[in-house]
Amino acid sequence: MYSLLTAFQNSVGRKILTGVTGIALTGFLIVHLLGNLTLFTIDYSNADNAFNRYAHFLHELGFLLYVAEAGLLAIFLIHAYLGIAIYLRKKKTRPDKYAMEKSRGGASKVGFSSRTMLISGSLLLLFTVSHVNHFKFGPGWSGEAEYVQVMNVGGEQAEVRDLSKLVFETFNRQYDGAIFYVLGYVGIMILLGFHLRHGIWSALQSLGAMNKNLTPVIYAVAGTLGILIALGFLVLPIYIYFL
Ligand code: HEM
Repeated sequence: MYSLLTAFQNSVGRKILTGVTGIALTGFLIVHLLGNLTLFTIDYSNADNAFNRYAHFLHELGFLLYVAEAGLLAIFLIHAYLGIAIYLRKKKTRPDKYAMEKSRGGASKVGFSSRTMLISGSLLLLFTVSHVNHFKFGPGWSGEAEYVQVMNVGGEQAEVRDLSKLVFETFNRQYDGAIFYVLGYVGIMILLGFHLRHGIWSALQSLGAMNKNLTPVIYAVAGTLGILIALGFLVLPIYIYFL
């Protein structure tokens, strides 16, 4: 039987698993971005806002949220491990740089995005660790009064974390160091755009969705999706900086 273990052990299986986990991570990013869009609409001086209510709703999922987070972490780690393994194997078997390389779905485009997948992926991994530490486990995580507001949720009084305050204090120009956060985020989001551009295309190719006639269309779709996701994330810190 073709098991997960078998997939890990051969190069086609590894490419497919990298594609599947990459698409799952892209799905997470789209949901995360949609949640973040509320940050464009709220009044930051009022903790009772759509973003805090949305985050509170997620936290109230309790056990379900832990399961989703554990799944996300596993997908992240598998994706990073396989990405590095594929890169090292390719380097070992084809030490010289190719302009075009053959793969299952035909010729694969090798450009800036694909050549920098390992470096952009590694930086995104480091970014994610620091990002989750800053926002998820940052001020208010352990109930500091300054970041908690009591409000009416579904007819009952509930303590809600004021995450929008933390986001505002991170990126707004009246706070020390905000400019470095904004510039850092913009840089990382540009890398994210390049990583997604090649990643989505390569995933679709590995999953066999590529047929020669469709190649240009799917390449354009992958590029546009990558740029849109990165742009959505990138504009927010700049918007908050100037509020
Ligand atoms: C401007 C861009 C971004 C902002 C303002 C932002 C904001 C946040 C905030 C406030 C949280 C905490 C949510 C909570 O505790 O309920 C969070 C969690 C998280 N973010 Fe972001 N984020 C951004 C971009 C990204 C990107 C690009 C990635 C991935 C490459 C990412 C990955 C994550 C992850 C993995 C979590 C933890 C989710 C969980 O455990 O529930 N974020 N983000």
